[in-house]
Amino acid sequence: MTFESNTSTQGIAAVEDAGGAAIAARSLRRTFKGGIEAVRDIDLTVAAGEVFGFLGPNGAGKTTTVRMLCTLLPPTSGSATVAGLDVVRDGAEVRRRIGVALQEIGLDPVQTGRELLELQCGLYGITGRRGRERAQ
Ligand SMILES: Nc1ncnc2c1ncn2[C@@H]1O[C@H](COP(=O)(O)OP(=O)(O)OP(=O)(O)O)[C@@H](O)[C@H]1O
Ligand SMILES: [Mg+2]
Repeated sequence: MTFESNTSTQGIAAVEDAGGAAIAARSLRRTFKGGIEAVRDIDLTVAAGEVFGFLGPNGAGKTTTVRMLCTLLPPTSGSATVAGLDVVRDGAEVRRRIGVALQEIGLDPVQTGRELLELQCGLYGITGRRGRERAQ
């Protein structure tokens, strides 16, 4: 996928120039084994409060882009920030700051509601007795 946002007319700018954007990507690229260029040098800026959607044909690179922005997949090159944090350098803090609703439901059908809440607490570092209390 190649993508030009309304803010990329200056060419490759440093992400530091994003000026408080919720999401900023500069020359973001992901190549897979076999030389598949899933995402080719994307520049985009999403302002705080802005709703932004990717539209494109199957295989265009939408999911690959979102996975990089969510820190689930390292970029091959380029850079991106979410809430001003670098998705590679500050991945753990990015994960603390975002919420992701996946395309597929990731719930275990045999877990109880309380167990699911305790699992979510654990993922956010709320463990032990505190986690059990919050899940009540
Ligand atoms: N883990 C992977 N290994 C190799 N190639 C991959 C991998 N993930 C994605 N690709 C390839 O990268 C390209 C972009 O895939 P991606 O899933 O990002 O597209 P998409 O726009 O989300 O498609 P869809 O609309 O079908 O969800 C495709 O050619 C895909 O086959
Ligand atoms: Mg997809």
